[in-house]
Amino acid sequence: MIILGIESTCDETGCALVKEGKEILSNVVSSQVDLHRAYGGVVPELACRRHVEVISMVIRQAMEETNLSFKEVDAIAVAHGPGLVGALLIGLNAAKGLSFALGKPLVGVNHVEAHLYAALMSSPTPVELPALGVVVSGGHTALLKMNGVGDYELLGQTVDDALGEAFDKVAKILGLPYPGGPQIEDLALSGSPDRFSFKPGTVKGKPFHFSYSGIKTAVLYTAKGQNSSQWEHLAIPRDQLPDLAASFQDTVLGDLAAKAALATQSFPCRSIVVGGGVANNRRLRALLEARVGLPIHWPTAQLTLDNAGMIAGLGYHKWLASETHQGLALEAHPRLSVA
Ligand code: KG4
Ligand code: ZN
Repeated sequence: MIILGIESTCDETGCALVKEGKEILSNVVSSQVDLHRAYGGVVPELACRRHVEVISMVIRQAMEETNLSFKEVDAIAVAHGPGLVGALLIGLNAAKGLSFALGKPLVGVNHVEAHLYAALMSSPTPVELPALGVVVSGGHTALLKMNGVGDYELLGQTVDDALGEAFDKVAKILGLPYPGGPQIEDLALSGSPDRFSFKPGTVKGKPFHFSYSGIKTAVLYTAKGQNSSQWEHLAIPRDQLPDLAASFQDTVLGDLAAKAALATQSFPCRSIVVGGGVANNRRLRALLEARVGLPIHWPTAQLTLDNAGMIAGLGYHKWLASETHQGLALEAHPRLSVA
């Protein structure tokens, strides 16, 4: 069973071919990071235009890398949400075109669920269930009880920014380029996390919820002075920036590790599954591993950031569960949720 997957939810255009939900035959990603860097974040209109320009090429390259013909593809899976509506429509229409032309079923995949599936796909052995799902990307931050593929219960989520977004915004304040997560991680390597004391965001009565707007403002005021805007000059010496990056990073990642550890005690949890771009962060890996005594499953590097491999992989399970669309009725859902 070979699935062709398509990803275009935000600023990466991807196409992948995956066998039996696990074996990656090709996984092509065209990143738009260069395009958005000048603006310090993703500009939706530019993202859509670039998706249109590259999607056919990306699909062709993914096919060529496998030496398969389209006839050998059994189904087309596409991320139809959540994401930027214009960006979603481009991948969705490409997928519908392929599905219609080839007479193959179309499978709609949730992008956030696919981030979690990426760790299952990466694990050589079956993941112990029920597991705690930890989604940490540029658009989403959530803790979920994962009973199986497609079966989740939401435990907590962010009430404002996503964790990756908080990294990106703090990086922008410090004058670092987009995407800010890897920049903050690198800068923090030479800094002391105890230099500045920040409080993690809490939400009253919701122990597994997250909030990053407070710490973002605290970093801004520390870096540029009380009641400043992000456009002002730095008010602290440049040599304190690594300490600021390390203090921010340890506060938000320590908070995530603490809430994840607490969440594993709220049900008979047997393992942890992490997904999304922030899973790349080595400090997160260290803090989470120090905090919980359960097996932790991380996605491999090629399945961590947005990619179509995880879409095709999860698409296989949706196809097994007969969640297919023969017509062209599948819609884009910018706010599609997992649970
Ligand atoms: O999963 P992803 O590719 O996109 C979304 O679905 O949103 O994640 C991108 C996010 C960005 O916010 C980026 O700054 C963050 O992941 N990120 C990191 C690291 N690498 C990527 N954040 C912290 N540390 C990293 N090493
Ligand atoms: Zn993503």
